[in-house]
Amino acid sequence: MSMKVLVTGGAGYIGSHTIVELNKAGYEPVILDDFRNSKPSVIDGLQKILGKETELLNFDVCDTERIAQYLSKEEVCGIIHFAAYKAVGESVVNPLKYYQNNIEGLVSILKAVSKEADIPFVFSSSCTVYGEPKGQKEVSEQTAKTIPTAPYGFTKWLGEQIIEDLYHSNHELRMMSLRYFNPIGAHESAFIGELPIGKPNNLLPFITQTAAGVHEKLTIFGNTYPTVDGTCVRDYIHVVDLAAAHVKALEFLLGQRMGCNEIVNIGTGKGSSVLEVVDAFEKVNEVTVNYEFGPKRPGDVIEIYANVDYAKSLLGWQAKKTINDAVRDAWRWEKSIRSKE
Ligand code: UD1
Repeated sequence: MSMKVLVTGGAGYIGSHTIVELNKAGYEPVILDDFRNSKPSVIDGLQKILGKETELLNFDVCDTERIAQYLSKEEVCGIIHFAAYKAVGESVVNPLKYYQNNIEGLVSILKAVSKEADIPFVFSSSCTVYGEPKGQKEVSEQTAKTIPTAPYGFTKWLGEQIIEDLYHSNHELRMMSLRYFNPIGAHESAFIGELPIGKPNNLLPFITQTAAGVHEKLTIFGNTYPTVDGTCVRDYIHVVDLAAAHVKALEFLLGQRMGCNEIVNIGTGKGSSVLEVVDAFEKVNEVTVNYEFGPKRPGDVIEIYANVDYAKSLLGWQAKKTINDAVRDAWRWEKSIRSKE
């Protein structure tokens, strides 16, 4: 069997860490990325970790023809589809950009997959599909989905639905959507990590950049929520653990003789508040993060974390790294970026 795995968005944050884990597990990952939202330097970082080059297809995931051409001449044992935009605020301002890249890109790759019905397919979804869970903080795959208000979230909601509808039209397909909680951290080598373009929206890059002096202070969005300390609670998962979950997902699908369509939460099962993350970052790295409390961010979910039972039973996967590992690796990565400036 060919060990080639096509990874769309393989130069992105989660994609690049998945390339490393695939390689570790003996697969031959192939990156499909046009660097519209990632930097070519990621490829150098990957080469340093892997000690070899990774095959690169530098074109748009919306180019169905070229994907189909590639799949017809190369034997590929799996596809992992990351290529998508993820900034919630930007998606509200520029919805068509999100629908085009996230929906058209998904449809494009699925068209190519459905021509070659035997290729397992893993989709990166998000816990954003749960919205604000009603009366519960821990969500399982059975928890009702809510149509997200921002176009970004809706592209994930719709993406899962598109996959479901495609599966109903062809029960031979083997597909899985992974609902990520909050990925943070970086590879422990500090050769790859998150490279936010412009001012980061997510918490961890804002913390590391503030500690590095790029921003004067971090604004914590709200401290009067009904949580442990008034700040929002999320399930922060180390990106390397998340990457490893993709390998398990692929292995599960490869082991299926019948078609299937599975949805699996990928988190740690534990919630941490914003203040707890800041505190862990300061203690582990022995640095101070200048912060202030500001107004609540519209649309923020108060408290959510994953029930991870299904990931354990179906995939035999669970997170191994702690929040302390993640904040240490995130800081090591930030320092390595700054040292190259
Ligand atoms: C957000 C998206 C989610 C998406 C994910 C992508 C929303 C509501 N959700 O998740 O759909 O999948 O990004 O990575 O936007 N925070 C601060 N100050 C900051 C930045 C963040 O206090 O400068 C707080 C937020 O209020 C939140 C927590 O940190 O409580 C995590 O925020 P963030 O990293 O943006 O992730 P989510 O909002 O959970």
